[in-house]
Amino acid sequence: MDLKSEIKRRRTFAIISHPDAGKTTLTEKLLLFGNAIQTAGAVKSNKIRKTSQSDFMEIEKQRGISVSTSVMAFEYEGIQVNILDTPGHKDFAEDTYRTLSAVDSVILVVDIAKGVEEQTRKLMQVCRMRHTPVMIFVNKMDREGIPHLDILEELEQELQIEVCPYTWPVGSGRYFQGVYNLYDNAISLHDVEKSTKTDGSTRLSGMDHPDAAKMIRDTNLETLREEAEFVNGVFEPFNRSLYLDGYLAPVFFGSALNNNGVLELLETFLEIAPPPGPVEATERIIEPSEDKLTGFIFKIHANLDPNHRDRIAFMRICSGKFERNKFYHHTRLGKKLRFPAPTSFMANSKQIVDEAFPGDVVGLYDSGNFKIGDTLTEGEQLQFKGIPSFSPEILREVNNLDNFKAKQLDKGVRQLTDEGVAQLFIKQPGNRKIIGTVGELQYEVIKYRLEHEYGAKCNFSPLSFNRAHWITTGNKQQLEELLKRKENNIAFDKEETPVYLSESDWALKTVKEMYPELEFHETSGFKVEG
Ligand code: G4P
Repeated sequence: MDLKSEIKRRRTFAIISHPDAGKTTLTEKLLLFGNAIQTAGAVKSNKIRKTSQSDFMEIEKQRGISVSTSVMAFEYEGIQVNILDTPGHKDFAEDTYRTLSAVDSVILVVDIAKGVEEQTRKLMQVCRMRHTPVMIFVNKMDREGIPHLDILEELEQELQIEVCPYTWPVGSGRYFQGVYNLYDNAISLHDVEKSTKTDGSTRLSGMDHPDAAKMIRDTNLETLREEAEFVNGVFEPFNRSLYLDGYLAPVFFGSALNNNGVLELLETFLEIAPPPGPVEATERIIEPSEDKLTGFIFKIHANLDPNHRDRIAFMRICSGKFERNKFYHHTRLGKKLRFPAPTSFMANSKQIVDEAFPGDVVGLYDSGNFKIGDTLTEGEQLQFKGIPSFSPEILREVNNLDNFKAKQLDKGVRQLTDEGVAQLFIKQPGNRKIIGTVGELQYEVIKYRLEHEYGAKCNFSPLSFNRAHWITTGNKQQLEELLKRKENNIAFDKEETPVYLSESDWALKTVKEMYPELEFHETSGFKVEG
């Protein structure tokens, strides 16, 4: 098959949700449809379970398992589907944000009983920033929840995206029977008796089908008629180009647990979701069909086996064909590298691949050459855009507890932050190291890994700051003045960009008013967005 056909038949996406909305269950059902796993429960292990925060070893163990579910690939009717896993635990949200830079679209799962939750809102913000096409799956329709029409309004308001129902529920709660496809006019009624491997549903060609009245509860059919009429009258028909540009989200209803409404989601997804498209680098736009390979590292997983210290760097291929054992150019280091054992992931198993195509993710064994955002090419000097760091929510200072191991501590902190475990800021005087994260757990991860992998001991002291904003300006004089007058609030990131540390939104607002020509950024995205 030629490169263009390989690209056309790929769909690379992530399923995202607030923890417990049903991401794992939905992933599993999609894998069952793709025959990538044989039994339900097989990917449950990718979830960091509700452990207490101090149960760090358990979390590490589960993170280890989650490597094999980092990418779950399967084929469905000739389409190569690549699902990129995102950690459910909110303390690993930064990993999720980065994974979103490597997908072409997302499916967002919302729990009908809970509606839009905090993490959903944040993830959606990242999708909006990147104009990622989003499909919404309203899950747990077998439970009592928010009325059907109200949830649409909530989605639209809370997620700040226009929505368009694509399927509509037939009943809800314990009377939830299936879904009606508003576009092909077909009703899928779920049959609990049938296996969950296939979707086990009966399809009827519309509400007037002779069996509809027999199979659907009277009240459900009546409500469906009314609601479908209303929805068809109120909502504009689905517009694919608005969806592809990230302005419109089609909404599906269902119950992942009961496999109800999932097939409608999958089939529509395969029909409308985009194949790999052009990717922006600082220098130019790269088309997937270019014959030379380009790709970037969006995730690094270390310490798979404590005895071997391996690291695995995950590369999203943006153009060309990736080949095993071929030399590629590492643009940051100006170094030639080749990979004898690149790995692809098929659901729960790993295998060495000889070649891979745009949209695919390959795992590259690494001895410390990579950091997040690194680019590989066939010689061209390129840097892909848009793998930003986000303003951390917790900031703490690192204290060295063993003076003889200062060098190891320094190296460890730099390497772990290159991997994306947390962000490092340096504060003067005294080169003080400040670590910024989105969750408490990261401090445990860092402390444990510094001790076990670098032999360095440290603890962290709290700081009064809870936000870090990157500063840019065309007005050098104002910047100089701020750096001098607010020295206590200034630190620098690894690339020496000044960062303003603030105690509260109010404090930041005051500074913004004092220095109107300075720009304070919540993400480091401006660096690469130009
Ligand atoms: P997550 O990855 O988004 O965190 O959610 P996950 O799929 O693990 O689902 C969270 C809980 O919700 C699980 O129950 C799961 O069985 C349940 N669930 C998922 N989809 C549905 C659905 O359509 N209907 C209903 N009623 N429940 C659903 P749990 O008891 O927390 O875990 P488990 O013991 O079942 O694994």
